[in-house]
Amino acid sequence: MTRGSLLVDHIGELVTNDGRDGDPLGIRRDAALLVEDGQVAWIGSARYAPAADRRIDAGGAAVLPGFVDSHAHLVFAGDRAAEFAARMAGERYTGGGIRTTVGATRAASDDDLRATVGRLRAEMLRQGTTTVEIKSGYGLTVADEARSLRIAAEFTEDTTFLGAHVVPAEYADRPDDYVGMVCGPMLAAAAPYARWIDVFCERGAFDADHARAILACGQAAGLGVRLHANQLGPGPGVRLGVELGAASVDHCTHLTDADVDALAGSETVATLLPGAEFSTRSPYPDARRLLDAGVTVALATDCNPGSSYTSSMPFCVALAVREMRMTPAEAVWAATAGGAAALRRTDVGRLTPGARADLIILDAPSHLHLAYRPGVPLIRQVLHNGVPR
Ligand code: NIG
Ligand code: FE
Repeated sequence: MTRGSLLVDHIGELVTNDGRDGDPLGIRRDAALLVEDGQVAWIGSARYAPAADRRIDAGGAAVLPGFVDSHAHLVFAGDRAAEFAARMAGERYTGGGIRTTVGATRAASDDDLRATVGRLRAEMLRQGTTTVEIKSGYGLTVADEARSLRIAAEFTEDTTFLGAHVVPAEYADRPDDYVGMVCGPMLAAAAPYARWIDVFCERGAFDADHARAILACGQAAGLGVRLHANQLGPGPGVRLGVELGAASVDHCTHLTDADVDALAGSETVATLLPGAEFSTRSPYPDARRLLDAGVTVALATDCNPGSSYTSSMPFCVALAVREMRMTPAEAVWAATAGGAAALRRTDVGRLTPGARADLIILDAPSHLHLAYRPGVPLIRQVLHNGVPR
């Protein structure tokens, strides 16, 4: 018995995501899981469970890896509830509201921004999210992007520089100058706090040439590539992401056969963000088409004050199953192991020996209940780094 060890016992259904025996969820029944030093030390049959310092009785419930939310914009100020109401009354989403949030974010203090990130991070944890990626993108000046990332880095290792979210108003008539600034002083100030670089490649934001230039500068500075692509209409983003070896292309709502083929022949994950389609009342991406083509699919919240103000991965799982033709097992995999793949991480998104002890005990006997009981708070307990939260 190791000091500080913790046994989670009487697990009715343990989702490991170990991929054995052709079952992607790697489900074990009547299992137990031992945590030591913040990691999974052992999993096996409850009958052979080792002794431990402390014990949590799961009482026959399902245990899952913590959710990996690989796409979130948490550093912002204000909200856009009125914009949401206008959309629900028939207005279209164009991304134009991003500039409203940029104004509010620039005017906010560091402490206000930090408090918002902390509030949303806590909200996520309560809903089972143990890993989150956090983007900048509402500062859009050298100083405001750097401070957004500095604050994000207080909460996660997976920080993403999104200086190319939109061209800010003061550069509206000289976008080339803005791109030059993003690649130059802004990247230099942001890179020390960022692991990834992202561009909103979309009509009205950045075209393929600008996106390619910015992503190449980010790569040269040592950042990994991810991309907002094909959200509002068809476009070059997905194929550009594949060409550059992006870890993930995100949204993927409007895809051609060529986009799907490119993804299928690549290591790039397609991250689907159904909260955005829900909150903009848009058609959902066709997850079935991607899965049937052999593309790796992740689910994430896209949590932001404009297009998707949800922090709930269970909500996204339910939407993916009901609206995007994913099976419950595919959606749970996409929200855990899929998110880890989108962040190129092997230490999270699974419950196998050596993985981080990030797990969820459900108030339900099976992962199926996440989609079967939408909107119900089914997260009974979360362990983060082996620590009950
Ligand atoms: O992922 N599409 C670009 N960025 C965000 C929306 C940001 C906003 O509307 O504030 C997204 O949906
Ligand atoms: Fe986004």
